Amino acid sequence: MTSDTAPPIDTALIDIVKVTKTYPPDIMALDEVSLAVGHGEMIFLTGVSGAGKTTLLKLLCFLESPTMGLIEMDKKDISKLSGHALQKMRQHIGVAYQDFRLLSKQTVYQNIALAMEVRYENPKKIKQRVLELLANLGLADKIHTPTSKLSRGEQQRVSIARACANKPPLILADEPTGNLDPAATSLVMDLFNRLHEEGTTIIIATHDQAIWQKSSHRIVNLENGKLQEIIKVNFDL
Ligand SMILES: Nc1ncnc2c1ncn2[C@@H]1O[C@H](COP(=O)(O)OP(=O)(O)O)[C@@H](O)[C@H]1O
Ligand SMILES: [Mg+2]
Repeated sequence: MTSDTAPPIDTALIDIVKVTKTYPPDIMALDEVSLAVGHGEMIFLTGVSGAGKTTLLKLLCFLESPTMGLIEMDKKDISKLSGHALQKMRQHIGVAYQDFRLLSKQTVYQNIALAMEVRYENPKKIKQRVLELLANLGLADKIHTPTSKLSRGEQQRVSIARACANKPPLILADEPTGNLDPAATSLVMDLFNRLHEEGTTIIIATHDQAIWQKSSHRIVNLENGKLQEIIKVNFDL
């Protein structure tokens, strides 16, 4: 797939069609947004604070429902799915929330392992995966630290590790580098790039230009709830 074209609809993992989301009393967070995301694509969702990025990700992990419009995942209209079916689908989505949502009294290890334990993964496999993620993200020395004792940048990486733990086919990352220095940002982006190469579909909401400027992936921009595809021009040619 080329970097700046929408995927053909029949290969789309996610198909968002004219989705509007309003919050009471009359805040229009998303305004007739349409976007198709292909299987295995990596996409950057950009836009200033308040543009609607988090709202769009919340719709894709079922934390909010659209006011109008259609969202299909794996060709299924999610508004027609039962609670049980949505819950099952949700298990295949790893989410790194903008506000982290960590268990503050639990250690780094426990927070990440829990995502795998609820799926009854083998304890050896869990340990191996958590250690691997902590090494990838530069957190190995924090393994037994309660997350309340971490810096925000460290907490952010724990939430990213948790989102990636089960190697879900879809990862939604909301401002994943918002609290990170350039070195930690590189670790996170290397992890996402590796997962993308293994076939994971990844949507990264960000207002951090540094992480998408050099990338060849699709960029879609939200402005006041309206979505626009950005076609990058390569001035280095
Ligand atoms: N739960 C909510 N209730 C009311 N307004 C909200 C809520 N969540 C977001 N908003 C508003 O919706 C708009 C989009 O917000 P958001 O999706 O968080 O944007 P972004 O992630 O791009 O900063 C903003 O005007 C924000 O204030
Ligand atoms: Mg946000």
